Amino acid sequence: MIFVSRHEHFNAAHKLYNSNWSSEQNEAVFGPCANENWHGHNFELIVTVKGTPDPDTGFVVDLKKLSQLIRSKVTSRVDHKNLNLDVDFMKDKMASTENLAIEFWKILKVELPAISHNAKLHSIKLYETPRNFVEYFGD
Ligand code: NI
Repeated sequence: MIFVSRHEHFNAAHKLYNSNWSSEQNEAVFGPCANENWHGHNFELIVTVKGTPDPDTGFVVDLKKLSQLIRSKVTSRVDHKNLNLDVDFMKDKMASTENLAIEFWKILKVELPAISHNAKLHSIKLYETPRNFVEYFGD
């Protein structure tokens, strides 16, 4: 089993705000991410798949195809968007990095077989800032 990763990038706006709480409580929990008039992050997305190399190509997955898949099915839907307002799969969810990674997983899990018969999705790693990131392994 070998692991193969592709790194993509997007930027997006969001706000972390729980409408059941007071402004003070939101600010205490979410800090600058609760800013009423939105703010942006430069997200770094690393998608890792696993499998055995195909005997004909030596590849687990064609990374060009994986890049195109991530861009067409995931990053194009969030890049330069407001995660709270513009993104259908984030509707009614907190626009956290955790929830984004889970939604990206769901999308790519379904789409991956279209580009590789022997690669399985292993993880989604999503950086919200250079120091803050989440990883999701599907459970
Ligand atoms: Ni934020």
